[in-house]
Amino acid sequence: MKDIKTISCIGAGYVGGPTMAVIALKNPHIRVNVVDINEEKIRLWNSDNLDELPVYEPGLADIVKKVRNKNLFFHTDINQAIEDAEMIFISVNTPTKTYGVGKGMAADLKYVELCARQIADVAKTDKIVVEKSTLPVRTASSIKRILAEQNKGLTYSVLSNPEFLAEGTAIKDLLEADRVLIGGEESENGQKAIEALVKIYEAWLPRERILTTNVWSSELSKLTANAFLAQRISSINAISVLCEKTGADVDEVARAIGSDSRIGPKFLKASVGFGGSCFQKDILNLVYLNRFYGLNEAADYWEQVIIMNDYQKHRFAANMVSSMFNTVSGKKIVFYGWAFKKDTNDTRESAAIYIADQLIDEQAEIHVYDPKVSHRRMQQDLYDLNTRPEAENDQYLHFEKDPYEAIRGAHAVAVITEWDVFKSLDWQKIYKAMKKPAFIFDGRNILDHEALREIGFEVTAIGKKKV
Ligand code: NAD
Ligand code: UGA
Repeated sequence: MKDIKTISCIGAGYVGGPTMAVIALKNPHIRVNVVDINEEKIRLWNSDNLDELPVYEPGLADIVKKVRNKNLFFHTDINQAIEDAEMIFISVNTPTKTYGVGKGMAADLKYVELCARQIADVAKTDKIVVEKSTLPVRTASSIKRILAEQNKGLTYSVLSNPEFLAEGTAIKDLLEADRVLIGGEESENGQKAIEALVKIYEAWLPRERILTTNVWSSELSKLTANAFLAQRISSINAISVLCEKTGADVDEVARAIGSDSRIGPKFLKASVGFGGSCFQKDILNLVYLNRFYGLNEAADYWEQVIIMNDYQKHRFAANMVSSMFNTVSGKKIVFYGWAFKKDTNDTRESAAIYIADQLIDEQAEIHVYDPKVSHRRMQQDLYDLNTRPEAENDQYLHFEKDPYEAIRGAHAVAVITEWDVFKSLDWQKIYKAMKKPAFIFDGRNILDHEALREIGFEVTAIGKKKV
């Protein structure tokens, strides 16, 4: 296999943008094109104002500044990008299907298929096609068939190279990846393709962290990794419910079990429920695959992770209502945070959306302060639930630019996202500005609850018995 000189990536989203920026940074001899059908997104990736980049990630803007228009190019000419590259990453979205067979469960592969068809139509030279999107096991065979169908005498290799970065730490995760996974065919061509991709990652990662497997293991490992991570959160959240009844403290339990090196301390933070674009969609996909193969017990097992997560979001909102004398109608409730986790502007599947929706049902006035999320985004998130007319949502959802301004005259504050800034707020000042009794609902257990109680707050936290 000749050295790769040009790479193209179809899909300039949360994965395509940061991943290609790091590949370009570490491989200055390779030209990297990132293309998308969304013209506005590409315009923002090319914006001189780096605050406008469509993805907010610590460290990303610095890298983009260094390599953009040197060896990293964002544009919308997908055909040209396909023609130019020896290696093409498919990094488009694979959301849960909203129609037809597998509705609400299976991954919608229409965007991936469109990319494969476009590559088949346009390609004039051999291509290595890399699945970067998260896909159901055996998708590579469909991609291969679509590519082969044109019969142009070209050689295609399809690799699976799932991405494991987490939002908010994407750049660190890419630069210091625990492992990179590359699945390929056992044929001579497949092995050459694997080596070409290994070489790109070897520019900054030690060879032993680059794992190579067959394609199906790689595809399934990605779904499995997300299922295991989400399962840990649902497990600790299930324990949090029992803690609230018994007086055990969920953070103490997490520390005690996490000190066992077999269990480990990470991903044991009880919370208002996990969000993000992938955990739910990937587990639903795993459930669907199991059902497809008639493996109903395995399907039920994984589905329970989602059921527990829905319960956690629902009971957080229900607890707020019951604590506030069973009525929140007309009450001002401030949300600190709307993003699904700190250090990202991404709100997909954020617990905030579902909690706000449930409280709006109770006619509460929701005022939201988030350091990175726009008013438009919050509005759209609620519209997308389709629970009530848009105007009615707008009536109850209020956007706030400052955490102290937001709180004036509020009955309660709920910490939904674990942004660091919330830990260092002047809680004395906040208490003074609020109606009494002043309620705090800490959905992330990031505040000093004893200190807050001393100020006079009534504090409710996840997995802690009410005092
Ligand atoms: P995203 O929605 O942020 O980006 C996908 C982009 O693909 C969009 O900009 C869309 O316009 C573009 N697109 C769709 N169809 C296209 C086409 N035919 N041609 C050109 N562009 C097209 O999605 P994302 O968060 O980057 O996720 C992409 C994939 O990576 C998903 O499969 C996801 O499961 C997986 N993944 C995501 C993360 C994450 O943290 N977000 C992490 C690991 C894996
Ligand atoms: C997750 C995985 O961590 C990545 O490895 C994977 O690549 C990615 O999904 C994906 O496939 O999209 P991400 O969703 O970006 O990454 O962020 P996480 O840090 O995993 O957090 C997910 C959700 O779980 C957040 O809402 C977070 O607040 C919550 N969480 C996380 C907890 O409630 N408790 C924890 O202990 C950890």
